[in-house]
Amino acid sequence: MEKDKAKMPAADAAQADVFENIIDSVEAVQDAATENNSVLIQDAEEVGAEEAHANTEAQEETAPAQAKEAHRPDCDDVLISITDLHKSFGKNEVLRGVTTQVKKGEKVVIIGPSGSGKSTLLRCLNMMETPTSGTIIFDGTPLDPKHSSINLHRRSMGMVFQHFNLFNNLTVVENIMLAPVKTGIADMKKLRKKALFLKLRKLFDKNCTEEIPTYPSKAEIRKKALDNALALLERIGLSDKATAYPSTLSGGQKQRIAIVRALAMHPRVMLFDEPTSALDPEMVGEVLEVIKELAEGGMTMVIVTHEIGFAREVATRVLFIDEGVIKEDAPPKELFTNPKDARLKEFLSKVL
Ligand SMILES: Nc1ncnc2c1ncn2[C@@H]1O[C@H](COP(=O)(O)OP(=O)(O)OP(=O)(O)O)[C@@H](O)[C@H]1O
Ligand SMILES: [Mg+2]
Repeated sequence: MEKDKAKMPAADAAQADVFENIIDSVEAVQDAATENNSVLIQDAEEVGAEEAHANTEAQEETAPAQAKEAHRPDCDDVLISITDLHKSFGKNEVLRGVTTQVKKGEKVVIIGPSGSGKSTLLRCLNMMETPTSGTIIFDGTPLDPKHSSINLHRRSMGMVFQHFNLFNNLTVVENIMLAPVKTGIADMKKLRKKALFLKLRKLFDKNCTEEIPTYPSKAEIRKKALDNALALLERIGLSDKATAYPSTLSGGQKQRIAIVRALAMHPRVMLFDEPTSALDPEMVGEVLEVIKELAEGGMTMVIVTHEIGFAREVATRVLFIDEGVIKEDAPPKELFTNPKDARLKEFLSKVL
């Protein structure tokens, strides 16, 4: 709306201000009359886990189109392009110049010793950490923590953590519905505001031909999110747990739900940070199975894991990170059977 106003003559912009005041009042009334999702959202907010919100924060504007064009990498297949990424915590330089690209459909597995910076790299990718320097370009758009597209970017990235990070005070189905409902309502409000603005404008300006957008009701948004959540639960064989609370589930079940919760936002890439390392051994298989199925479905993935057998089977490429840099980058067969870097050889001798 502000962008539209900037292009208008002064008199029109003044009129737009009046309209916006009216719209704000009307919206406040509409919200008061129809707010039936607030309990779900507020309850989750009270839990306040930063990680859990990584998958739920997503409601801002798209980055300017020209920025996207200017930085589009040469290869259209590249989804994530990381160049000379550095990240320090105080004097501790954790990432010391990471450069790599992830192509659409690739399954990149990251291995490396504890403290080498694997989680920090993933957290930089979905902007839970701000890099000290370097660039990350996602599908042609440079990530800029100061830019409002940060939340839109997070919609594109599903993140799954070692400790599930489900909201314990919400049922399974509410956990899965939370982000789609929240973002659906935010999108709907933008469209509703635009529709109101145009309706008012058309009253005064008979030449205004712009089409008034339609938008779903909150009930429709919730229904769609519910249907999608139930379909996802069916896909992983946990339909009977829809109304259960996370505390009643096994670790393997929680992690499978955390995965479909991330999938509910239809992400372009899934980031997994040691998704099985907190599980009892007998539950590792069921979680890896879900990830494998996703991989077979063509999802782009970046997976930090110590499951070497899984990496061999699923990865298209394995990165060995040590002391904040990529020491080796090769297809699994090559990296595991013919490691070149001395530190990688030492690492593999411990984990294989
Ligand atoms: N928020 C933070 N504040 C300060 N230091 C941090 C923070 N996050 C990570 N670090 C430090 O950065 C280094 C790398 O941590 P990171 O979690 O990325 O390692 P990792 O490779 O994922 O290790 P692990 O295999 O144990 O999970 C560690 O020394 C850690 O203490
Ligand atoms: Mg880690």
